[in-house]
Amino acid sequence: MADMADRLNLPLLDACGVMPGEAVLDLASGAGEPALSAAKRVGPGGSVHGVDLVEAMLAGAVRRASAFDGPPPRFTVGDMTALPFADGQFDGVTCRFGIMFVPDTRACLAETVRVLRPHGKAAFMVWGPLADNTLFRELDQAVTEILGPDPADALAPLFRFDQPGTLARLMEESGLRDVSEQSLRPTARVPLEKPFWRASLDMAFAPRISAAPADSRERLDAAITARFAALAVEGICALHLHAMIVSGERG
Ligand SMILES: C[S@@+](CC[C@H](N)C(=O)[O-])C[C@H]1O[C@@H](n2cnc3c(N)ncnc32)[C@H](O)[C@@H]1O
Repeated sequence: MADMADRLNLPLLDACGVMPGEAVLDLASGAGEPALSAAKRVGPGGSVHGVDLVEAMLAGAVRRASAFDGPPPRFTVGDMTALPFADGQFDGVTCRFGIMFVPDTRACLAETVRVLRPHGKAAFMVWGPLADNTLFRELDQAVTEILGPDPADALAPLFRFDQPGTLARLMEESGLRDVSEQSLRPTARVPLEKPFWRASLDMAFAPRISAAPADSRERLDAAITARFAALAVEGICALHLHAMIVSGERG
């Protein structure tokens, strides 16, 4: 999926206006996306700092950074609603598929504005509608088929900013200006023989699956495999993605 990472990260860095020599903060970095792409772009004269609430997520980012060709990003455990940074330190703030997990979105946006320099930019990538995202849509349908409807609606947080304007309004209210939105609709072509869906299944449905009896987990794997096989042509499955980038500038 490295090819897909660039197809998502580069437009996000563009929307954030990231340039060589700049200081960038990446919120909810997870395993290092897009912090590693940002470090390539800012180059030796710039700096990238990634934060994530979960140390175990950052372990992957730190491992990848140790093999980085050039000055690597630094990673710190931290909460994006209470950032461990001084005011006005960053030219840009990026966040890929992270802000939807923060219940207090306003606190995160206030912190983003606080750590940006005047005229610094922030860009957030969020999911578009579930129906437009092949991977999550098929997983959701397979889980519902085998385990029944989800009373907790585990996918709801992932898609809470899927409608145009939802996040943009909150960003404007937080004081960001010239807020704009763009849709990205890339397609990943993945070989069917690889369990490309496993990480997303674990991430989005782990509590339900771990509570399910072992035999239903086997049936779930079979149902998922059958769904993607039905979509594949000559062993290749086309996964359509719909993501949105919402960006704005600190006045
Ligand atoms: C779907 S992952 C995205 C990771 C990465 N940006 C990417 O696109 O691959 C969401 C990340 O948000 C992090 N996260 C959730 N709440 C957070 C918070 N309050 N502060 C910082 N990170 C948070 C999680 O630990 C997780 O690593």
